Amino acid sequence: MFRLANDASPAPMAGSLRDPQGRTLDYLRLAVTDRCNLRCRYCMPSEGIKLVGHQDVLSIEEMQRLGAIFTDLGVRKIRITGGEPLLRKGAVDLIAGLRQLPSSPDVLLTTNGLLLDQNLDALQAAGVKRINLSLDSLDADNWRRITRRDGHDKVLRAMDRILEMGMGLKLNMVVLPGRNEHEIPDFVALTRDRDMSVRFIEPMPFDGAGKPLKAISGDEIMALIHPAYELQPLENPEGAVDKLFAVDGHKGNVGVIEGHSRTFCASCRRLRIDARGGLRTCLYGKSQVDLRAMLRAGCTDDEIVAAVRDAVSRRLEDGLAAEKDSKLGGLESMASIGG
Ligand code: 5AD
Ligand code: SF4
Repeated sequence: MFRLANDASPAPMAGSLRDPQGRTLDYLRLAVTDRCNLRCRYCMPSEGIKLVGHQDVLSIEEMQRLGAIFTDLGVRKIRITGGEPLLRKGAVDLIAGLRQLPSSPDVLLTTNGLLLDQNLDALQAAGVKRINLSLDSLDADNWRRITRRDGHDKVLRAMDRILEMGMGLKLNMVVLPGRNEHEIPDFVALTRDRDMSVRFIEPMPFDGAGKPLKAISGDEIMALIHPAYELQPLENPEGAVDKLFAVDGHKGNVGVIEGHSRTFCASCRRLRIDARGGLRTCLYGKSQVDLRAMLRAGCTDDEIVAAVRDAVSRRLEDGLAAEKDSKLGGLESMASIGG
């Protein structure tokens, strides 16, 4: 379906990336590593995933070059993700470098928070204004059962320090039936005195093991919030994946992300570069262009742009179509696709 950009987003530039459905792609998620210091059950098996070899991940310079190419193509927002991006040496310098590109894109970070304490000042200095923090339980024991590691206290501390430093914060909680859905009201309570978003995410089939996760839908999640809280729907910018709600009397807000139901595909503006340097035009689809191979074969910017445009011209209408086309069967981990 063709959609007009809403007033919040400036008109796309002449050379911008438009897919066959008329969606402008101006948001890039860049996985800077597939390594992680947690083992979240919904993301990888306890032994971890088969990691990309050191030579096969993009160098910081290669990512910086891609950042320049994609921002020239109209990308306005770059999210640094992984794996745990702060495990990647040079991640903060990369962020600073991307911020200095001529169009000064927004550069955002998704992190599990374990390494934030020692990095927050540098991140703020590098120009990060908002952080997405993963937190799946407020109970230390339950958190350890879900992530299979220690460090819950560090994440809680990171949450409050981000706010103290005046940075924007979105807390992401993947809802795992039987493990943490009873904590949903406690997560909503966090927004009473904290100006942040808490987003509840449907589990998606990217656990790196191909084991179906117990499903829970956005509507079922909403039904768990409703009895205790009054919610008012909020407007969200075009391309946002969360359904956001104000909570009566709270500073912050809450949202659901129907990542498995895929209710937001019609306005999706995202591109991904995975941990191998593969360009993905949909989370549920396979890599469409081996950008790493092109960079290392000495391709020119124009050649890379042509390959990106070609992939965008073949972008399917939604995540259901992309999943059918990819035949990956949920065997991938979010850590290598880019969470
Ligand atoms: N389902 C839903 N979200 C996932 N993430 C990782 N794996 C999954 C999954 N299988 C998201 C979580 C986490 C971020 C790094 O990636 O939001 O916070
Ligand atoms: Fe690491 Fe994020 Fe995967 Fe958890 S979800 S194991 S924090 S990459």
